[in-house]
Amino acid sequence: MAIRNIRVMGDPILEKTCKEVKEMTPRLKELIDDMFDTMYEANGVGLAAPQVGVLKRIVVVDVTGEDPIVLINPRILESSGEQTGGEGCLSVPGKSGTVTRPNYVKVLAYDRDMKPVELEGTELLARAFCHEIDHLDGHLYVEKVEGELVDVESEEAAAAGALRERQAGDVHGDDDAVGRLVKEGDAVDAGMQDVAAEVRPRLRRPVQQRGQRM
Ligand code: NI
Repeated sequence: MAIRNIRVMGDPILEKTCKEVKEMTPRLKELIDDMFDTMYEANGVGLAAPQVGVLKRIVVVDVTGEDPIVLINPRILESSGEQTGGEGCLSVPGKSGTVTRPNYVKVLAYDRDMKPVELEGTELLARAFCHEIDHLDGHLYVEKVEGELVDVESEEAAAAGALRERQAGDVHGDDDAVGRLVKEGDAVDAGMQDVAAEVRPRLRRPVQQRGQRM
């Protein structure tokens, strides 16, 4: 288990075409485990090997936090429909943009045992499959953005904002997830540092942008 460094836009490795995986090795299994650790740590829903500096056609995806998927040498077999919505990339931190993707894709890939699998995805899962497969060919979503890239509030900043509200005794309902998190539990009576430690990890899943970064 290890967290790897995520490469950011401007790093030439993100513009290269990745090589097919011919056989599974202990080293690649370790890479896959590290990719999941790195994706979860960064609150992402997907990660491609080039984002951690490895030019192999390997992708990990988990759009719910409970459905880890490994795609090796993935290929889109079918796509249909259209969805237009917000998308972000762990390699383009602090930004988001509007991208149109198919609403359904069927993907052929190998799993971590190099067994062929066919996977179908709709909505966010379809978006994640397309976004990650683009990474394997050296493409970033910014090439496809409609309009401008926009700045998104970081989760750290969101957590700090929630703490400021709590401190002011003014936790109101315009962000249910944060309000609930701050109110529940014993942390309310603890010192500010303790509250920060308590709130930050629990913010990971509810924060809406988690659904967009891959
Ligand atoms: Ni990405």
